Amino acid sequence: MANLFLKKDLNKLISDAGDPNASEHSGGLKRHLNALNLTLLGVGGIIGAGIFSLTGVAAANYAGPGIVFSFIIGGILCAFAGLCYAEMAAMVPVSGSAYAYSYATLGEFIAWIIGWDLILEYAFGSVTVAAAWSGYFVSLFQKTLGIPFTDTLLQFTKGPWELVTLADGSQVHGIWNLPASIVALFVGMVLYRGIKESATLNNLIVAIKLTIILAFIAVGWGVINSVNWHANPGAEGLAGFVPAVAKSLRNGEEIMSFGWPGVLTGAGVVFFAYIGFDAVSTTAQEAKNPQRDLPIGILASLFICTAIYILMALVMTGVVPYQELGVPDPVAVGVDRIVSLRGWSEGAQKTLSFAVKFGALMGLTSVILVLMLGQTRIFYSMAKDGLLPWFDQLHKTFQTPHKATSITAIFVAFCAGCMPMSLVGELVSIGTLLAFVLVCVGVVILRVKSPNTPRPFKAPLFWFVGPAGALSCLWVMSGLPKDTWIRLFVWLAIGFVIYFVYGIKHSRLRQTQPPRKTTSSKGGEAPAVRV
Ligand code: ALA
Repeated sequence: MANLFLKKDLNKLISDAGDPNASEHSGGLKRHLNALNLTLLGVGGIIGAGIFSLTGVAAANYAGPGIVFSFIIGGILCAFAGLCYAEMAAMVPVSGSAYAYSYATLGEFIAWIIGWDLILEYAFGSVTVAAAWSGYFVSLFQKTLGIPFTDTLLQFTKGPWELVTLADGSQVHGIWNLPASIVALFVGMVLYRGIKESATLNNLIVAIKLTIILAFIAVGWGVINSVNWHANPGAEGLAGFVPAVAKSLRNGEEIMSFGWPGVLTGAGVVFFAYIGFDAVSTTAQEAKNPQRDLPIGILASLFICTAIYILMALVMTGVVPYQELGVPDPVAVGVDRIVSLRGWSEGAQKTLSFAVKFGALMGLTSVILVLMLGQTRIFYSMAKDGLLPWFDQLHKTFQTPHKATSITAIFVAFCAGCMPMSLVGELVSIGTLLAFVLVCVGVVILRVKSPNTPRPFKAPLFWFVGPAGALSCLWVMSGLPKDTWIRLFVWLAIGFVIYFVYGIKHSRLRQTQPPRKTTSSKGGEAPAVRV
């Protein structure tokens, strides 16, 4: 029986990535990214569908204006994981991120599980956001710009599992979500072309989306009606933000909403809004000074986005009563209300509505870009280790993992075109949470087993931060529906089959192991390479 928990040597892992101090190349990938690029990649990957779509639903259904606390809780949880990612990324600056860290701490099989699991975060995350992109695209052209869509065209804006409302009000199934597929292929082309081009496009998009978001906060702040925040007249101070516990019926089932439990459920829902900061760590081999800049990129982007989310939530729930926010485009609802509260003209309303939807489209594009970038680098690392075929090949001119990029883009475009979105959304969160748990656990294991390995960045209070990160992620996972857990296990089972059919036989680490001695009565496994 092969040793499933064979571990990579930490020093070898680092040397595989090439010289982390080399200024130009590392393992064939180009080193182009500085601290600012990395921070903007983080912001590009974080702010997207979560804030533009989910916030309103979470406020209306679970937390009321207490959604602000949900964002604070989500931010703290991600800060634990972010600190652990920052320590690992600075210590092991390789493109495989959580996959690579697990290879050195928990062994090949767990690393495979994480690499496979990260497909849920990065590839399926891109699928979910591409579908949200399509929704904003149609709304911008159809509602804001008044461009008519024929019935046939409308059916090509949703997949076969979703319903489309036609001009006469009737509902039919969609055929293919063409805008979602097109945006995925477009992003794939940019990533194929080069990391510098991808970072430049990301910088531009992030500048646009931040300008629009900050403008929204600035114009909305002045017309906040604090009555909207006082959702629980019976409570004093900040507790007044949280509506009293209420029972409601959903899908025929009686559920409890609001109160502090609702705030916690809200934190689970808006967790999606924070996904993406960890993608920064997948670009370790393309960073000029990874050991200094990766922690900056991860933590600065997380901090900036948490601050923005809290301000956005305060403005949204301050200008619109939370009960009215349960729509797919709560920010657009907020803009309309701000315009009317300020007494601005219809022209101003149209311009602002256009700006917000355009900002959302930009925001979603950069999320797809960063998540797909993360996916290609994970595939690249897994293939370099022999666990997957082809994906480690680099383009001769562009020095990008072009096969990994092409296949990721086609996969995302296909799934975004036809998969039922209700199936994918929560899988993304559970997959990400599982990766966070293992990174938090990995940090603690490495502190115990390799206390002397240089750590350019050390997570403060690691004995608290690591376990608290892992436990809080497990707690959010425990609140996800049973169906999502079943889908996670099915996905992992598919991964096991691929590992045992292909990965274990082609693992480069296994091929470098000395041949096993004849089995003795004590077992006689070949010694694992331990860190
Ligand atoms: N955090 C990303 C978003 O909200 C995934 O779109």
